Amino acid sequence: MKAVALTRPLPIADPQSLVDVELPKPSPKGRDLLVKVEAVSVNPVDTKRRMAEKTDAAPKVIGWDAAGTVAAVGEQVSLFSVGDDVYYAGDVGRPGSNSEFQLVDERIVGRKPKTLDFVKAAAMPLTSITAWEAFFDRMKIDRGGKDGGKRLLVIGGAGGVGSIGIQLARLAGLTVVATASRNDTVQWVKGLGAQHVINHREPLKPQAEALGFKDFDYIANFSGDLDSYWPAMSELIAPQGYAVAIVGNTKPMSLDAFRMKSASFCWEFMFTRPRFQTADMIEQHRLLNQVADWLDAGKLKCTLTEAMSPINAANLRKAHAKLESGTMIGKLVLSGWA
Ligand SMILES: NC(=O)c1ccc[n+]([C@@H]2O[C@H](COP(=O)([O-])OP(=O)(O)OC[C@H]3O[C@@H](n4cnc5c(N)ncnc54)[C@H](OP(=O)(O)O)[C@@H]3O)[C@@H](O)[C@H]2O)c1
Repeated sequence: MKAVALTRPLPIADPQSLVDVELPKPSPKGRDLLVKVEAVSVNPVDTKRRMAEKTDAAPKVIGWDAAGTVAAVGEQVSLFSVGDDVYYAGDVGRPGSNSEFQLVDERIVGRKPKTLDFVKAAAMPLTSITAWEAFFDRMKIDRGGKDGGKRLLVIGGAGGVGSIGIQLARLAGLTVVATASRNDTVQWVKGLGAQHVINHREPLKPQAEALGFKDFDYIANFSGDLDSYWPAMSELIAPQGYAVAIVGNTKPMSLDAFRMKSASFCWEFMFTRPRFQTADMIEQHRLLNQVADWLDAGKLKCTLTEAMSPINAANLRKAHAKLESGTMIGKLVLSGWA
């Protein structure tokens, strides 16, 4: 089967950073589906993993966001059948989706939204899982609306995670203040439903106060920077509030402000469930199906903004370069095998 792989960490401008390869087609066992991959999205985890690989390793397939069709199933599969269209992020501990066929555990796979083609569907899974788990599983926001009217600050509103996060938060009835720093991203986050926008290149607290927000019940830092925003998050978290981050800190973080306010700080890592095979990993199947229902019902909008074809090393190098520029709005998807 065709695949795009890396063998050693190289800057994306190097033609050897991602290369076209032929690999054996895998066979499913147990609860695995073998999926014929039709479209893949790119995420910052891809660029980070690309640079983290050991030198001269065997070809490694990365990419964890896909839509495709079930081509074969393991003997214990019960949720899907051959021919079903699916979308999923997968497991960062296993080969990724930048290959014609991929094995994935059925418990972390959802049915593809019927109203979206493969390209649009592939834009959604990884970021939807991240934002959903951050809000509803980590910060315990009630998705049925019982927390309606509470105030949420989304740092990094226009990225992949922020773009679906703003929409999920509005569906749960929250009042959303999102951050964006360029005209295009300000317009984008407003279009997704953010009621207010502030600029993350300027101090956040005075901007929030000018809008009448002295603090926030929830803060979701969906940017790739926790260190720089931690002081503002500490100032802006409400007493007994919840904050979540999706990247690690590289400097020590004082928890004193959170302690004084009895506020909670949570991490969200969307690969935790598959990586540790948690007893509730089937929650990713359920949430992807719910997101598919909401996309089909028009309650959520697809966050795709850029598409390329085919899926090959040259196009994936362009896609990684775009992500590494830090200017991505919404999602970028590649589709088809030449
Ligand atoms: N833990 C997890 O499970 C998980 C899951 C997904 C992603 N992540 C991580 O979360 C981060 C964001 O991922 P993503 O896919 O949303 O990224 P992305 O799509 O590449 O984000 C691009 C956006 O980031 C904004 N941005 C750039 N610099 C910023 C800054 N200093 N502060 C705030 N926003 C900034 C830009 O908006 P402006 O142009 O308006 O500045 C741009 O639109 C990445 O580091 C990724 O690795 C973690």
